[in-house]
Amino acid sequence: MVIEHASFSRPWTEGMMLAELFNNPVAFSMVVRAGEDEKIVAQVFMRLMLDELHLLNLGVHPRWRRHGLGTKLIQHVLKTATEKGTERVILEVRASNEAAQGLYQKMGFRQIGLRKNYYCKPTENALLLGCTLEDIQAFSETETKQEIENQGKIKINACNIINTP
Ligand SMILES: CC(C)(COP(=O)(O)OP(=O)(O)OC[C@H]1O[C@@H](n2cnc3c(N)ncnc32)[C@H](O)[C@@H]1OP(=O)(O)O)[C@@H](O)C(=O)NCCC(=O)NCCS
Repeated sequence: MVIEHASFSRPWTEGMMLAELFNNPVAFSMVVRAGEDEKIVAQVFMRLMLDELHLLNLGVHPRWRRHGLGTKLIQHVLKTATEKGTERVILEVRASNEAAQGLYQKMGFRQIGLRKNYYCKPTENALLLGCTLEDIQAFSETETKQEIENQGKIKINACNIINTP
């Protein structure tokens, strides 16, 4: 919940998170643990529907941002999506969220649509981004290099899958 409240103007409630974790057959979540105390420092919630993975919520604790954790988490999402035979990964991002857009672009996502007034508090358009299976495969080849680079910056204890369809 700390990450959620620090990351979004309309954070998910505890009930929404619990429902996603324990009461949704298509839900799929991962966390990254890091630091001496192995606390959860990054989270991602997704839904796997047929051949499409919809990324609903991605957040990194503010104290741990710009250390490659968002990248690490998306790497694991894309790798797992490939293993599950997913054709593409889609997500919405606020038009003003340059940080997240920078991350997604770097990971191979491209804009495939626009959802008008999708967000509130404040009202704002969403860019619909997508990453196809070919993008995912191309990305996976660079994973090892990226992981080595990340290890120089931060000690990541684990990237755990919490639930999966
Ligand atoms: C977006 C977010 C998940 C990025 O996580 P992160 O761990 O800081 O990201 P990384 O360190 O892996 O950065 C990867 C790339 O993203 C981009 N990026 C990340 N933060 C940025 C920032 N503040 N400004 C500009 N670009 C940024 C850069 O391209 C960066 O690559 P670089 O470090 O080589 O320049 C994090 O800022 C966050 O939790 N934000 C609030 C919640 C949110 O917006 N979630 C996305 C909803 S769609």
